[in-house]
Amino acid sequence: MAERFTVTTPIYYPNDRLHIGHAYTTVAADALARYHRLRGEDVFFVTGTDEHGQKIEERAAKAGKAPIAYVDEIVSDIRDLWQLLQISYDDFIRTTEPRHERVVQEIFKKLEASGDIYLSQYEGWYCTPCESFWVEGKLVDGNCPSCGGPVSRLNEESYFFRLSRYAQPLLDYIEANPGFIQPSSRRNEMISFIKQGLEDISVSRTSFRWGIPLPQDPRHIAYVWIDALTNYITACGYLQDEQRFARFWPADVHLVGKEIVRFHAIIWPAILLALGLPLPRVVYGHGWLLLGEQKMSKSRGNVIDPRQLVQRYGRDAVRYYLLREVPFGADGNYTEEALILRTNVDLANDLGNLLSRTTAMIERFTDGVVPSPSGQSELRATAEECVKKATQSLDRLQVSDGVSAVFELVRRANKYIEESAPWQLNRTGDPRLNGVLYDLAESLRIVAVLLRPFLVDAPHAIYRQLGLDSADASRLADAAWGGLRPGTRIQRGEPIFPRIDTESAAQAAEPAAASPATPEVTIDDFGRVDLRVGTILAASKVKGADRLLELTVDLGESEPRTIVSGIAEYYQPEALPGTQVVIVANLQPAKIRGIVSRGMILAGKTEEGLQIVSPREPLPPGTRIK
Ligand code: MSP
Repeated sequence: MAERFTVTTPIYYPNDRLHIGHAYTTVAADALARYHRLRGEDVFFVTGTDEHGQKIEERAAKAGKAPIAYVDEIVSDIRDLWQLLQISYDDFIRTTEPRHERVVQEIFKKLEASGDIYLSQYEGWYCTPCESFWVEGKLVDGNCPSCGGPVSRLNEESYFFRLSRYAQPLLDYIEANPGFIQPSSRRNEMISFIKQGLEDISVSRTSFRWGIPLPQDPRHIAYVWIDALTNYITACGYLQDEQRFARFWPADVHLVGKEIVRFHAIIWPAILLALGLPLPRVVYGHGWLLLGEQKMSKSRGNVIDPRQLVQRYGRDAVRYYLLREVPFGADGNYTEEALILRTNVDLANDLGNLLSRTTAMIERFTDGVVPSPSGQSELRATAEECVKKATQSLDRLQVSDGVSAVFELVRRANKYIEESAPWQLNRTGDPRLNGVLYDLAESLRIVAVLLRPFLVDAPHAIYRQLGLDSADASRLADAAWGGLRPGTRIQRGEPIFPRIDTESAAQAAEPAAASPATPEVTIDDFGRVDLRVGTILAASKVKGADRLLELTVDLGESEPRTIVSGIAEYYQPEALPGTQVVIVANLQPAKIRGIVSRGMILAGKTEEGLQIVSPREPLPPGTRIK
């Protein structure tokens, strides 16, 4: 039987609309689930909602609704969000479902029978937003040590779980299983937390009603964290379906935000030990998305709505940004500028252009048909290396490294276009042309397979444009070099990631003006700027823009380039055809007034006016300037 892989997200509180912090965890878990499906494994990916507790009870009362009616609405909104982001969960568990209430009650019976819970008096402090109890000694300046907010005094009868009993067994387990808590910084935190001594914890409340009553004493409601954590085994079939439970438990990965690692790496494993159940293989505590210096959070109200971002930029752009931007495990700042930059640079420019250039060349040079490979391939080794890197990263839960490994192949393939200059091979009838085009198309196909864990639309679009059926890209084995059959008829399509128009892109069209304050650059820095000679073939005014001309420039490539330049105040368009110019040829394309501009012309500006830079004597278009 195929191997199986169980991955979970925290179950979210349906007390408000979710924000991109929640989407961050869920998209990452989705990428892992999709990756393991690509490996042919039997995946069980579970997410859901944590619906009980005082906070929800209060919120519902404020809204004048019954708690269940209140959460039903938010839960349906959460499901819509996951649908929008194409989260491929196999189970969505709600703690208000009868299947879960039964399990929680059974667990309380078992824990009582094994002597792991007992009735006593609770005296301490409670933080409602964190749903956490704290003893006096753990408070920081009298406030909650987790969120820093105020806590309230509690003094009531409560059932206690003998957490203290499990301190040593937990330490032994963590010692024997170095990968159990990740990343290692969180493991160290947990070890020192346990070493300070674990006290028994209160696991029931009598101060509110919205929760699961204890079977042995229904005046008591199960503490919301015990109720929540057990969702993982309910979803796997505990006490309902032995076979299913044996198959999917223990979980391979509990993916959680770093603030709740303590619950998952201490309380939860202790309960499992008490129940005699195996512990999850990995608890991974990832970092926070911050807005400015602060954690984005519902209680602070500083949140970004993922729905708006998807509407503005598309779901693949949002997924890509979340997965790629921040090294997994670390905290990272969210900015919309960074999202736009990632989309424009990685997706529109690097990936989108690779696809449109490759399919355009195949259409022009080989009648739209993928030619035969040559014996030796320049890209094969890189492709194989990238497959290895991407899979190794994902095996180690390094999601952002996984996605960037794929883009190494994209960038190498783009560079290969420049190096091999297929338009010149075509012009001179060079037989190497076929091999080059095959390699580019094959690299794109492999990129599409490797992107399947991360992106949900682009892999299919790439396959379609290559004339292939994406049903054939559903296994990791499909990423092996050589899968593309010569003779495949490509189907050019729209750009898969249109560039996002920004103000700064318009400014980039201004001719560069030298300033004495410019800092020094190294020769390598300079080498990254690709300056080429071009000949202007045509020029016209851009409608509605006094300063802009649209130029058609021959750069010795298969097709002339369109460049929008801010020189209209200095040159009449009729005077320009035939003029040679120097172009920054590898400038990121930018959409200016709806026209895609691919490059920038150099000019010098003084008080007297502006002069285009031209070679003293004519040079062949495409000549590199160094
Ligand atoms: N209901 C509990 C979890 C119970 S799990 C058995 C809970 N819910 S929550 O709605 O507050 O969601 C917390 C989780 O959402 C975090 O652990 C993290 O996965 C995600 N995030 C919420 N805000 C986040 C950021 N600003 N950044 C990254 N992840 C964030 O806690």
